Amino acid sequence: MTFLKLDSLRKHYGAVAALDGVELCVASGSRTAIVGPSGCGKTTLLRLIAGFDAPDAGAILLDGEVMADAHGQVPAHLRNIGIVAQDGCLFPHLSVADNIGFGLKTDREARHARAAELMEMVGLDQAMLQRKPDQLSGGQQQRVALARALARKPRLMLLDEPFSALDTGLRVATRKAVADVLSAAGITTILVTHDQQEALAFADQLAVMRAGRLAQVGTPREVYARPVDAATASFLGEAIVLPARVRGAVADSALGALPVEAGDFEGDASILLRPEQISVQRAQGASLPANGTIGDVAFGGSTCDTQVTLDGAPSLSFRLDIPNRDMLLVGDRVAISVSGKAHVFR
Ligand SMILES: Nc1ncnc2c1ncn2[C@@H]1O[C@H](COP(=O)(O)OP(=O)(O)OP(=O)(O)O)[C@@H](O)[C@H]1O
Ligand SMILES: [Mg+2]
Repeated sequence: MTFLKLDSLRKHYGAVAALDGVELCVASGSRTAIVGPSGCGKTTLLRLIAGFDAPDAGAILLDGEVMADAHGQVPAHLRNIGIVAQDGCLFPHLSVADNIGFGLKTDREARHARAAELMEMVGLDQAMLQRKPDQLSGGQQQRVALARALARKPRLMLLDEPFSALDTGLRVATRKAVADVLSAAGITTILVTHDQQEALAFADQLAVMRAGRLAQVGTPREVYARPVDAATASFLGEAIVLPARVRGAVADSALGALPVEAGDFEGDASILLRPEQISVQRAQGASLPANGTIGDVAFGGSTCDTQVTLDGAPSLSFRLDIPNRDMLLVGDRVAISVSGKAHVFR
């Protein structure tokens, strides 16, 4: 069931079209991730949903109620939406306990009990409750901001890059913990992030945003495997895009005749392969003939970020993480093979 509906949302700041006709449906209890490059309008979109700003045109409906349209808008404090802003925004003069309990209409004791419960939920030590925000690390402040947003049991949670201040290990653990907390509470959530892996792992629904519009919306698997264009493909991970001639269920390319989803498209097109579809081995005479050469190799621990150039003109190269055990060196001749289907961009 649709819980949040955005209908043709537009927002201009002077000449900048921050939102240029955004359409989105978010199902009740689901997790949507919005990814896109810096400046594409992600924060603006969250601010409109939260009610901090009004759209120039379009409508926002939450649980069937109009929050904003051409006739006016429901003020932010009446929407019961939790938001964790990009910069955390804790009250610097209040303790952690008072930050979390801020706005709760219960007595002091109940507020502090709730704060203690939420600290545990976000994985922070209760000893920190009496500290001020400037006595916490950036990552700890982010988690307090999250606890504060959870305190009032919002019906919709908006998270704007909430994990960006955390280091990799803590980031994954915190993301998992937050996802669990939100699922357990059944809170519909929208997460904005730059990090495609975070988006793919967190979301039921993924929206890729570009220049004020949603370029594609679908399940993470769908958008990853069948992106609408090369820019969307690259945004979600390494994309190997090759020219090809499509006929029926086959695409003829520099990597040979590759299977594709049979559609009605015939002719010249670009095709997409993901790195996990490609294997590169040292060539072995006639039994494993070479069709490419190793360009440069950047050592990265368990894998090497390796440039592979395909034989043939015009010369085509791409980069792949290749397991370090293969010990491929610059100039080595290799056999490149593909598994699975290539995706055709129309
Ligand atoms: N208050 C404002 N006044 C003028 N322009 C603004 C304002 N807020 C945002 N913009 C512009 O609108 C566009 C979208 O900004 P927004 O903050 O939504 O981007 P974003 O996708 O959140 O970027 P980032 O990933 O860097 O946080 C940008 O070009 C930005 O400069
Ligand atoms: Mg932003």
